[in-house]
Amino acid sequence: MEIRRKIAPASQWATDALIFFVFENKELTPGLGEYLGKNAPALLGSGALADVKGQLGRVALLHTGEGAGSPRILAAGLGKPEETDAEKLRQAVAAAAAQARSLELPAVGLPVSALSGLGLDAPAALEESLAGFSLSLYRYDALKTEPAPEAAYPSVLEVLAESELSEDENLAVSEACAQIAGVVRARDMINTPANLATPAYLADQLRQIADTYGFQCGIYGAEAISEMGMGCFESVFKGAGNEARLVVVDTAPNSKEAPVALVGKGVTFDTGGICLKPPLKMHEMKADMGGAAAVAGVLEASGMLPPGPRILAVIPLAENMPGSTATRPGDVATSLSGKTVEIINTDAEGRLLLCDAITYAGKFAPRAIVDLATLTGACVVALGPKVAGLFCNDDALSHRVLEAGERVGEPFWPMPLWDLYAKALESDAADLKNVGPREGGAVHAAVFLKQFVPKDTPWAHLDIAGPAWADEAYQHVTKGGAGFGVRTLFSLLRSW
Ligand code: BES
Ligand code: ZN
Ligand code: ZN
Repeated sequence: MEIRRKIAPASQWATDALIFFVFENKELTPGLGEYLGKNAPALLGSGALADVKGQLGRVALLHTGEGAGSPRILAAGLGKPEETDAEKLRQAVAAAAAQARSLELPAVGLPVSALSGLGLDAPAALEESLAGFSLSLYRYDALKTEPAPEAAYPSVLEVLAESELSEDENLAVSEACAQIAGVVRARDMINTPANLATPAYLADQLRQIADTYGFQCGIYGAEAISEMGMGCFESVFKGAGNEARLVVVDTAPNSKEAPVALVGKGVTFDTGGICLKPPLKMHEMKADMGGAAAVAGVLEASGMLPPGPRILAVIPLAENMPGSTATRPGDVATSLSGKTVEIINTDAEGRLLLCDAITYAGKFAPRAIVDLATLTGACVVALGPKVAGLFCNDDALSHRVLEAGERVGEPFWPMPLWDLYAKALESDAADLKNVGPREGGAVHAAVFLKQFVPKDTPWAHLDIAGPAWADEAYQHVTKGGAGFGVRTLFSLLRSW
């Protein structure tokens, strides 16, 4: 979808429909009242606005008649005025987007004035509205032989104002466009099936992003990964025909600034390996690279704006397959850190490639390490499918992640990193084993990773096993790959 700015008198806002907001039990918001002007009484008299009652999720369609710049208004209910927040705004806008789509309106306008008087910070409201509108209309139909015709979807969203946008508003539009591009990139990567989205394919996508924005990009194959001493990473891909890759992207390789390291789990398909998963939901394991996709999305979004903090992305990409060369339960691998790991369960593979990627990232003396991973089913059991677990060894970093998630509507919940649980990871044959007891599985996985984080480095582990994939559409999230984490990390980095 194309987002563009148009500065013109309201009479020239010639889109197919304008979005305005209405509150419950209160017929007009200031923006809508001002726009309707002397026509307000007639429209109110028609009862169309009263019908929708301003309820959140409902949208009234108003025909504005002769002479108006735009023939329709989508009056999106926002609920109770005193309860308005960014989340409700995103939902209201997503409802307007759904309405525009069912009416097959190609071009929709959002007057900046529609966002005034809502009690929200104006630039933030603008950014969230644009993201909510655009992301809720995402679709993946690259592999359909007869995709829905382009015209059936809104393809233009115009940001409308009568006078020049403020600097903050302009920035909000640019940031929204960057975030949207990043999330779309991540969703496309996740939704692409694993027979196409192999490690080599995803590495190529990362190379393209790096080339587009002038980042440094190193791509290593299976042999190089083994030679570097990443035995745990190697243990994951040993059974796979599609060759693994390690991708390292640096957004400012010549800078003296310590980077923020982003590490993303990129298991292009997780069969479980020799500890084979049951077939029922196995197809969803094409999304086991949701962490890697999120990091790719952050790189894309960051590249579209003037440089922020230096990012070092470390992305291990591998397929977890059974086979005669695959790792057996009980095998011992030597990690890049030198620690030996007994692999009790080959389905706990994420922590194996992540531990080596974290050690690798640590060598760059980063000012923080943030890893994103569809790591454990246990985290989904604990927090449900829409919330990510946040495991963090640093209070300041933890706050930043929680706040950024809250701003953009990606919820995180703090989880513990108890050293008490390290005992459960002791192995008879090696320094560590890769699984503890089933109970508290998400915590045990996080405590495993913690053994590989350099001392005194702030580190956040985001277990996105639940929200990386949506069984059903909700809020601005479409069914399938969600691109969860892109907007949180983007927002975190912009405000670093
Ligand atoms: N990729 C899975 C975790 C997962 C589960 C992601 C459901 C998304 C939805 C991970 O590799 C895995 O299989 N974890 C095991 C760990 C166990 C063997 C200790 C799990 O969660 O069951
Ligand atoms: Zn697994
Ligand atoms: Zn996995």
